[in-house]
Amino acid sequence: MKFMNQALYAGVLGLSCGLTLFIVQPNQSILPNAEAKGKKWKYFGSATCGGGSCHAAKEQEKERPANEYITWKKKDRHSKAFDSLFEEESEEMCEELDIEEPSKDKACTICHTTDVTKDLHGEKFNREDGVSCDGCHGPAEGWYKPHTKTHKYEDMLAKGMWDTRNLFRRADVCVKCHLQIDPKLVDAGHPDLSFELFTHSHREPPHWYERQTWDGIRAWSVGQTVSLRDALTKIKSRLGQKDNEEELGFAIAQGLSHTTVFRHAVGELGETHEKAFILDLHGRLSNGKTKGLLEACKKGITILTKLGRRLATADVFNEKMVVSVFKKVANDPDLSSVEEYQAEQVAGALFALYNSKVYGKGPRLQKPLKEPEQIKAIFVRPAIWEPADLFDDESSEFKEKLWLKRLKEAAKLVK
Ligand code: HEC
Ligand code: HEC
Ligand code: HEC
Repeated sequence: MKFMNQALYAGVLGLSCGLTLFIVQPNQSILPNAEAKGKKWKYFGSATCGGGSCHAAKEQEKERPANEYITWKKKDRHSKAFDSLFEEESEEMCEELDIEEPSKDKACTICHTTDVTKDLHGEKFNREDGVSCDGCHGPAEGWYKPHTKTHKYEDMLAKGMWDTRNLFRRADVCVKCHLQIDPKLVDAGHPDLSFELFTHSHREPPHWYERQTWDGIRAWSVGQTVSLRDALTKIKSRLGQKDNEEELGFAIAQGLSHTTVFRHAVGELGETHEKAFILDLHGRLSNGKTKGLLEACKKGITILTKLGRRLATADVFNEKMVVSVFKKVANDPDLSSVEEYQAEQVAGALFALYNSKVYGKGPRLQKPLKEPEQIKAIFVRPAIWEPADLFDDESSEFKEKLWLKRLKEAAKLVK
């Protein structure tokens, strides 16, 4: 399996990259349950949700898919996340990492299963579910019974259901597993992680109807705040450590991939001080200098949290804004030179904004997204080296010029 060499980032940023030893430090235990602090509710496992017509109906319903379990089981990689730990790729990776049984080691199970302590296992809990229903919706013990009868969504949240309808909370759930990978795993061959909420939701594939107004630009912009906040959190913790230029370079590059696109939107979406902050941060991350960066990160985490929360529900979007942000991102003069993670974020932005224009205020509900050829052609996924024709056969280098040529075509999609 090819893997991304993170030294590449450090190279891009002109940072030195000494040899660094990383310690495998699995993420903290599974997600915090903000609404139910202190309560220890049990996780029930997907089999609890999969029976009968509740979430395993053959046909979709008008109000909700009703076949959520089937989509998860048959089409969603999350249901295969545990199985992946037995694949050859995992074996190779783990040999390098000195991990004997990936399916039993926290270094892997923290993301590839719903990893909770035994006292929280309900009757049908099964690690083999991979990322189970409660892995994203929260432990079911509190809300399981009431949610099978007429109920108010908010009451379920009070009983421990995680609020995935709110895009800020949804992004929080996803990035817990989709961004915070130990660089040592990547060095050993694990796909590198990068995240864009709109594209990732589409790829899951969704087993839900999208009920937000302006869900394209909303999901994209909220996802940017959460992903950038994650990058700043990493930068902040890595600035304080010795001998980790490489890790730091990676976090900086991650941040830069987000400011590259988000700086074109924050002026229209945010307040003056938020715009000023993002532009300043973009400058800092571009020149790779670390002076004052720690303070900027601390400030940024607060600003982005506030902004993200606000955008998740705010009524600030309109078509003119969608068109204007699309054009700014697509025609950014600074993109004359671009690395693949930035390219990925540009593509994600254009995909989200294009669909936002097509579907307008919405809500989109179950209507399928549009994927024009021009956007497909720039959809680079550096973590898994896709599409193959955007990477050099021999050196695996990203074909920047080819991508930029294709971007020009995609830019014409919205006039
Ligand atoms: C508990 C950890 C966890 C959570 C929470 C989680 N994922 Fe994942 N996700 C994974 C793992 C692990 C894989 C890889 C599964 C495999 O192929 O083995 C994955 C795979 C995927 C894939 C397919 C691979 C790809 O990149 O195209 C998509 C799309 C995805 N996740 C989207 C999401 C979205 C959207 C959310 C939030 C709503 C989310 N995930 C929440 C762990 C998680
Ligand atoms: C921080 C969360 C996280 C941790 C820890 C983690 N993974 Fe993953 N893993 C993911 C995600 C997310 C993906 C999907 C990547 C993508 O396609 O974008 C993935 C993908 C994979 C894949 C490729 C699956 C495929 O689609 O074929 C393998 C194999 C894998 N992981 C094995 C491991 C092993 C072995 C470990 C432990 C050494 C591990 N992972 C630890 C999150 C994680
Ligand atoms: C990787 C994360 C993830 C996993 C795993 C997951 N869901 Fe979801 N689910 C979501 C997100 C995100 C939404 C969209 C927001 C919402 O409606 O709550 C959603 C929505 C739903 C909805 C509301 C559908 C609608 O349109 O009203 C149901 C019901 C649901 N999921 C059931 C399930 C069941 C059952 C499972 C397990 C078989 C499952 N989910 C597994 C993330 C996940």
